[in-house]
Amino acid sequence: PEFTHFTLEEQEGIAIFTISRPEALNALNQAAWTDLLNFAEYLEKAEHLQVGIITGAGDKSFIAGADINTLTGMVPMDAVNPPCTDLGQALILLESCSKPVIAAINGYALGGGLEVALACDFRIVSENAALGLPEVGLGLIPGAGGTQRLSRLAGIGIAKDMILAGRTLSAQEAVTHNLAMKVVPREDLLAEAVKLAKSLAKKGPLALRLGKQAINRSLDVDLKTALYIENLTFGMLLSTDDKREGTRAFIEKRKPAFKGK
Ligand code: CAA
Repeated sequence: PEFTHFTLEEQEGIAIFTISRPEALNALNQAAWTDLLNFAEYLEKAEHLQVGIITGAGDKSFIAGADINTLTGMVPMDAVNPPCTDLGQALILLESCSKPVIAAINGYALGGGLEVALACDFRIVSENAALGLPEVGLGLIPGAGGTQRLSRLAGIGIAKDMILAGRTLSAQEAVTHNLAMKVVPREDLLAEAVKLAKSLAKKGPLALRLGKQAINRSLDVDLKTALYIENLTFGMLLSTDDKREGTRAFIEKRKPAFKGK
């Protein structure tokens, strides 16, 4: 696929998707929203890919939000029509993607930028990262899932601090508040993300896929239903070649060769 503001690099089943708009600290204009949607669709379909990584070019910014120049001309109905809906739709697809997605946050992750990261399964931050949802300062609220994904991930208290009071978190604070897994120096960030991606790619693909669904889908239902979803999902995996291979490899003291069947 062709992208306007992102580059796509593929190595050993890992797709590294990098935004580069240095003139705007990698802020997402309309073409970038559509790029993200096209990437989410591609990652889901591409059989040779097992994990996605989203990052930003340069040392200052991951994504500094939606492009504010784009926002100024927007009218109410834009919120329910493409290309505006492309961003929200892209994040729904990434979140429900059958493959794990990692955000490697190399600096500012603000507004729509943090919303992209929140739709990923893992977030690793560089030491200079700053995470925030500053829309309230623009007379807005987050428009691509921030109010929901942040409060589910980190709790209502910190979500209100960030969304209403406009608090920006440092890299270390992001870890403390459960927004990121770990902090690493900028120069190690991509290597850390690739290391995590490679370790994920060695796991049973069906287990990864259903494990992600069991976690994400259960958030929308009551505990009994959620436990039932887990039980059914676990049961499905009992029937797979991957389960036979994984358990046999353990007993035979060798590495499993999963086939995703
Ligand atoms: N949109 C458009 N341009 C942006 C931008 C954005 N979100 N963020 C930065 N830029 C541009 C700046 O206008 C500036 O351009 P010029 O050089 O042409 O003046 C360039 O990037 C560099 O930025 P600064 O000079 O401001 O850099 P700084 O180091 O002084 O400050 C910053 C960095 C704190 C990130 C500051 O740029 C900033 O506050 N940016 C806006 C962040 C923001 O409010 N994001 C939320 C957007 S709304 C949203 O995302 C809605 C949604 O939910 C979908």
